Amino acid sequence: MTELRIALRGAPDALARALDVCLIRYDVTAVVERAGEVELSVVADSFDATFDGVEVEELPVPESMPTGLEDDRAILVGDAILVRPPWVAQPPDFVGTTIVVPRGGAFGSGEHGSTQAALLAMDAVWTSGIESFADVGCGSGVLAAYAAARGVATIHACDIDEPSVRATRELLPAAHVCVGGAEALGARVDAVVANLAGHELAAALDSVLAVWNGCGPLVLSGMRPHEVEAIEHRVPGDPAERVQRDEFVALAYASGV
Ligand SMILES: C[S@@+](CC[C@H](N)C(=O)[O-])C[C@H]1O[C@@H](n2cnc3c(N)ncnc32)[C@H](O)[C@@H]1O
Repeated sequence: MTELRIALRGAPDALARALDVCLIRYDVTAVVERAGEVELSVVADSFDATFDGVEVEELPVPESMPTGLEDDRAILVGDAILVRPPWVAQPPDFVGTTIVVPRGGAFGSGEHGSTQAALLAMDAVWTSGIESFADVGCGSGVLAAYAAARGVATIHACDIDEPSVRATRELLPAAHVCVGGAEALGARVDAVVANLAGHELAAALDSVLAVWNGCGPLVLSGMRPHEVEAIEHRVPGDPAERVQRDEFVALAYASGV
């Protein structure tokens, strides 16, 4: 992957449609709009899209042009979980679950304590035989990507934020991803994860629990330590694991049956 500079030229309507397609189909890291022209920075091997009424030109990338991606690194979340953007190489000596997720499109590129706590909690209670999974508040889709990497066949995800839904659909084209809360998922699944801010989790908890059939793990993340007790009282059974990263806590329930 490399950083490409693409100029699109045309009438405003055609340019707007072309830009929408680019934002969905490519990892666009910068957009500069001028009269009759849009200039994009795109991370891709090549740019082969064409659009009705829009001229596409690949511009030279000055060797010294900063891309903003130079400082990106693979993030070792735990001994056995690595999160990296597609343009960062896999460390050759890493053994474990790798999640490849672009940075910048939606929340969840692996740096945040609540994402890390969720991943560690999932890893601690994950078992073989989990057939279906739901990610409530999917953001980039990073947690759903963990489930996919562990071989789950049926993945559902939802987010109240449309760009997050688009990002997850792009990351996991086979997943069922919808706009809305847990009640919009329309499924009951073996394993559920919800990484939401504490007050959001408190408001959504009944719907999150209703999605879980109890055959696999439940992971609740994003709480600050003082918010944990109230959530814990509302979930049947005791958590098998409590993980804290920075000021964020995740609770993992091994199974509810
Ligand atoms: C902390 S981010 C987590 C993103 C990603 N799952 C991760 O772990 O990095 C929370 C996400 O939940 C979404 N969200 C907030 N409240 C929600 C709700 N009630 N139902 C579904 N999504 C919600 C937000 O839009 C945001 O994308």
